[in-house]
Amino acid sequence: MQPNINGSRILVTGGAGFIGSYVIEELIPLKPAKIVIVDNFIRGSRANMKSFANNPLVEFVEGDIRDNALMDKLVAGCDYVFHMAALRINACAANPNDGFDVMIKATFDLAMLCVKHKVKKVIYSSSASVFGLAQHFPTPETDNPYDNQTFYGGAKLWGEQLFRSFKFMYGLDYVALRYFNAYGPRMDTDGKYTEVMIKWLDCIRFGKPPLIYGDGSTTMDFVYVKDIAKANIAALQSPVTDEAFNIGFQRETSLKELLDIMLKVNDSNLVPEHREENSVNPVSRRLADISKAKKLLGYDPQFTLEQGLKELSQWYFEKVKETATV
Ligand SMILES: NC(=O)c1ccc[n+]([C@@H]2O[C@H](COP(=O)([O-])OP(=O)(O)OC[C@H]3O[C@@H](n4cnc5c(N)ncnc54)[C@H](O)[C@@H]3O)[C@@H](O)[C@H]2O)c1
Repeated sequence: MQPNINGSRILVTGGAGFIGSYVIEELIPLKPAKIVIVDNFIRGSRANMKSFANNPLVEFVEGDIRDNALMDKLVAGCDYVFHMAALRINACAANPNDGFDVMIKATFDLAMLCVKHKVKKVIYSSSASVFGLAQHFPTPETDNPYDNQTFYGGAKLWGEQLFRSFKFMYGLDYVALRYFNAYGPRMDTDGKYTEVMIKWLDCIRFGKPPLIYGDGSTTMDFVYVKDIAKANIAALQSPVTDEAFNIGFQRETSLKELLDIMLKVNDSNLVPEHREENSVNPVSRRLADISKAKKLLGYDPQFTLEQGLKELSQWYFEKVKETATV
């Protein structure tokens, strides 16, 4: 059956976070009866939810997905669940016990509750980290995950397999989205790769040389947050189930190139300094093959890196201006 957002009840775990807050902004015009957000603010913020804080369609619950009694109440009566709450790659590496509890145990408990309460479809936020260093570039979804060396990537892959097995055992419909390197306004300043954008914006602001860790040849596939949010909506609305999709832009950009574009969109002629790499994630190359998402979900990312970095820079400079005047 074709999922229908209109009039439905939707739970978004991690909805106060960077990507989750944009997913909610995309959901609101589609007129669900209720969007319930659960977030414990380990990373997200009320500022991220500013545009819908007073919207009667949205109910915010400050709580933890590890609280199974709370989650039981929240999942009951829901038609759809976006499962976005997670710890970052570096947090999982620093504390694998927490990584286990949040990424694995709470995800398992949530899947059980989705079966119990007959949720119609789950959209699971997976990650390009499942691949480790992929075998092919552009990387299709079918590349194997055996090179992944991170707890985070392992946990995301396990989540995909969990939902696949629940589809097989219980008929729970789901789609897993493997985001590549997400960026945009509201992004956190603590991600392994993406933090660098905010640090460079700090350098541009203060006229200091931007730092590049390593030789700058590491590549990423940057995908703008609004394109990711649209992919989530498409994944829910489409009849597709039991599939994982790469969500990138299919453009490979080295750190050096990224800095060049960042300096260009900010009319800056700062000269970078190089520092030794200190890495949690040993992946040197990322480039998504997005043809499957294009074909089956109608995914069509719109924001070029130049446009996205302009929007990010504008948001950053407005934010620092606001903070300075408070
Ligand atoms: N940002 C990226 O580049 C990227 C790339 C690949 C995958 N992802 C995945 O996408 C999803 C969203 O990522 P994001 O960038 O918006 O991250 P984020 O940290 O901004 O959002 C995650 C949210 O989950 C919340 N959360 C964490 N643990 C929780 C818990 N125990 N209970 C309740 N809430 C909890 C956090 O407070 C945060 O608001 C995550 O699952 C992440 O792993 C992100």
